[in-house]
Amino acid sequence: MPDASGIELKRGLSGVYLDRTESCFIDGEVGKLLYRGYNIHDLAEKSSFEEVVHLLLKETLPNSDELNTFDRELRHDRTIPAPVLEIISQVKDAHPMDVLRTAISALAAFDPDVRDNSIEATIRKGLRLTAKAPTIVAAHDRIRKGLEPVEPNPNLTHAGNFLYMLFGKEPTEEETKLMDVDFILHAEHGANASAFTARVVASTNSDLHSAVVAGVGALKGPAHGGAAEEVMTMSEEIGSPENADEYARNLLDNGGRVMGFGHRVYKAEDPRAGHLRDRSQKLGDAKGQPQWFEILSHLQEAMKPYQAKGIHVNVDFFAGSIYYLLDIPDDTFISIFALGRIPGWTLNVVEQYSRNMLIRPLMEYTGPMDLEYVPLSERG
Ligand code: CMC
Repeated sequence: MPDASGIELKRGLSGVYLDRTESCFIDGEVGKLLYRGYNIHDLAEKSSFEEVVHLLLKETLPNSDELNTFDRELRHDRTIPAPVLEIISQVKDAHPMDVLRTAISALAAFDPDVRDNSIEATIRKGLRLTAKAPTIVAAHDRIRKGLEPVEPNPNLTHAGNFLYMLFGKEPTEEETKLMDVDFILHAEHGANASAFTARVVASTNSDLHSAVVAGVGALKGPAHGGAAEEVMTMSEEIGSPENADEYARNLLDNGGRVMGFGHRVYKAEDPRAGHLRDRSQKLGDAKGQPQWFEILSHLQEAMKPYQAKGIHVNVDFFAGSIYYLLDIPDDTFISIFALGRIPGWTLNVVEQYSRNMLIRPLMEYTGPMDLEYVPLSERG
């Protein structure tokens, strides 16, 4: 409703359509998500991250020849320049998202297309960033632990190579599939806060690296990508399933939020969450640590009354337990979300460039007017 000045505020831009898109459809009422028309359920169960990146950035699902060529290029681009590794060493004690943000920014200095904002060059840069970002995250984790970074292995898939570079040993097929599904589920999600941030940067005709750096910054917050880590912290505080109900009651009675629940768009269950729910349970059983899934199940039960308010489990609720059980450090969970989302940020930048208009909203002024300027020497 317009206020007395006739201005209608759209705080948080909630419910505002910014533009049209051909890439991501979300029906929040029923919990439906499509990437370029393909249902996330089919993509998560039947495709690979490499296929999904092709779909998002080259606009079609590839045939096998196209996929082989595309995958070969991604594998070829995994190495990061020595000066970027050196920068990572210099800032190794910072949060992994700060290190990722800094290293992506530094990669701009080595990208042959850095000054070219054409659609073709932007896609090339986005693919290079997609290929190189896992190397940054893995190298940082090893350097801060006093270990040598592991060279990318061109014989492994995108997901498998990431785990290989992180731990220095080849992952199992199951571990690779878990990481692959996780990357697929995080690849794109419409005008979410970090993609919107990337679009704002692109709308000034700035470049992809700047937009992705800004996207990483927006993703870092606990209301967006930081939730998976907070869910795991909460699970560790709860410690054992029988404490979960009381913990949730205390938290909610004191106005707190159960992280991993709620979404600006989904008023039904986030369609991505189910793919991680079953996998979290299976992995916990296989690792002899079923307690994490049990804690999460109790929390879900405690949150049942909130379903009437449209608050359901989101993609981050089960993700944290999977990363934890894969031995990924808690502070690296958000970086994994970022690794999956780089194609999505690139896509949003490409769409923004393709029919660009500067994003520049207004603010309703409510401060004082026309005050008299008193010279500094006369102020009491
Ligand atoms: N636990 C308890 N209550 C909640 C929660 C929650 N997780 N989320 C929202 N609410 C309540 C909130 O207290 C408010 O109640 P009331 O109307 O009585 O004041 C109502 O729901 C609306 O909340 P809101 O913050 O105005 O809604 P929003 O659309 O701005 O927030 C959200 C969306 C994701 C920021 C929020 O649900 C939240 O903080 N969730 C926890 C953090 C989280 O899991 N984030 C990951 C999102 S999914 C991954 C991604 O795409 O980034």
